[in-house]
Amino acid sequence: MNDKDIKILAIESSCDETAASVVINGRNIISNVINSQIKIHTEYGGVVPEIASRKHMENIVNVVDEALKEADMTLNDLDAIAVTNGPGLVGALLVGVSFAKTLAWSINKPLIPVNHIEGHICANYPENKYLEPPFVILVISGGHTYLAICSEYGKYEIVGQTRDDAAGEAFDKVARAIGLGYPGGPKVDKLSKSGNPDAFDFPIAHIADAPFDFSYSGVKSAVLNQLNTAKMNGMEINSADVAASFQKAIIGSTVPKAIALCKEKNINKLAIAGGVASNSALREALQSACDKEGIQFCSPSPVMCTDNAAMIGAAAYYKYLNNEFSGLDLNAIPNLSL
Ligand code: KG4
Ligand code: ZN
Repeated sequence: MNDKDIKILAIESSCDETAASVVINGRNIISNVINSQIKIHTEYGGVVPEIASRKHMENIVNVVDEALKEADMTLNDLDAIAVTNGPGLVGALLVGVSFAKTLAWSINKPLIPVNHIEGHICANYPENKYLEPPFVILVISGGHTYLAICSEYGKYEIVGQTRDDAAGEAFDKVARAIGLGYPGGPKVDKLSKSGNPDAFDFPIAHIADAPFDFSYSGVKSAVLNQLNTAKMNGMEINSADVAASFQKAIIGSTVPKAIALCKEKNINKLAIAGGVASNSALREALQSACDKEGIQFCSPSPVMCTDNAAMIGAAAYYKYLNNEFSGLDLNAIPNLSL
């Protein structure tokens, strides 16, 4: 570390993780503390916004404290405070935003607002130190599915998006239907390993006039219909086979589009981001498709794909370099787009 290093404390509270992290120069993670509320929300089968806000309030002081301790720093060592200001649950976001404002004011350092989706994309930087724009990015999370081109740091051209459900939403709904509970994605991933992906032929969506757009509601409905039909006929159905076949259809609806965009734009780097990007079969499929086409494939480690604050610190560094600061009137924007 030297005097010129930019040390940013980042805070993330957009959904059900209270997280804080110290990141140096956008690429070097010094601490990464995540307090997950998953266990609490599991009892209700999904995230309860009011409970999420309350838990963020209870946890944020300790989480930030721990991130600083782990980094062996005090507030005065920092160059800026970054915070997710959207998209997400408004009450949850407001906890992080208010806390970050107070910290920035107290140390008289810049406040940097970060879009949560951009944060997911920037999760690639600390672990793929060679990754620089331009690259194609597949954002595949619980709330969003985008195919975009990152032309330079902080600039994204959205080329495709989902017409209906986000991929993670489809994973969560299918998981619930086969009795796996919340959060569904990791459980479907695990169960699929013991299933036959060719057992069921679930549909792969193609949208004729928009080749880079996605649709996941058809495959989700096909799975639900299959389960209902089996139930009505009193037939046993192998959940692992359903999970594996569903996952195969999601992969088939997603991977070829990402590869086609790289080829069409002549960009030989593909990165992925978001919670579903931690899916093991999807990662393998993307890696092997990229290998075949001579495309460099980048992904954050699974823990960096799901919500964390280090990704917010990585994104904030490039905003720091561009003086993209906010005043203390910063507000949470629940429907902020990329
Ligand atoms: O990115 P994220 O933490 O939240 C948003 O910003 O939306 O993504 C959460 C989503 C959930 O739908 C979860 O089920 C899914 O990511 N997910 C997975 C896996 N791990 C998390 N989906 C498939 N396979 C996984 N291993
Ligand atoms: Zn997220």
